[in-house]
Amino acid sequence: MPFQDLKQKVKAIVSDSDLNRDGKLLHICKLLSDSISYYNWVGFYFKNGDKQELKLGPYVGAPTDHTIIPFGKGICGQVAVSNQNFVVPDVTVQDNYIACSINVKAEIVVPIFVNSENIGQIDIDSNTPDPFTEKDERFLEYVCKKVATLFD
Ligand code: SME
Repeated sequence: MPFQDLKQKVKAIVSDSDLNRDGKLLHICKLLSDSISYYNWVGFYFKNGDKQELKLGPYVGAPTDHTIIPFGKGICGQVAVSNQNFVVPDVTVQDNYIACSINVKAEIVVPIFVNSENIGQIDIDSNTPDPFTEKDERFLEYVCKKVATLFD
């Protein structure tokens, strides 16, 4: 499904009054993982209260032990402090990387901002090497903007 169609679906999920916030986030994970063949694990991490750590939110894919990630650790923890997208074409060449599964070849993490504050991120693992392009980044930035409206 083209990104343009997926954007419409994400928009509809975000405004679905039958779902609570976590329900919406889970539906977005399912939509992305079902629609894009190289999105093999899709999940959200959010800042855990006042702590300098991320806490796992809704996700779709293999269960992970990494439900808490300190700021600065792994790809996710680095995005929590850099406030920038992180595209990893090949996870094996990353020193600061937390492996969740031996099948994962690549990862993309895009931060979520509410009132300019980085409150969390969408994290996607791929079992395909080097699958992400700028189109994925633009699409995921759109998803994160829509998700941000759930935290206003
Ligand atoms: N690989 C991530 C950890 C989270 S899992 O991908 C679900 C990282 O290095 O931060």
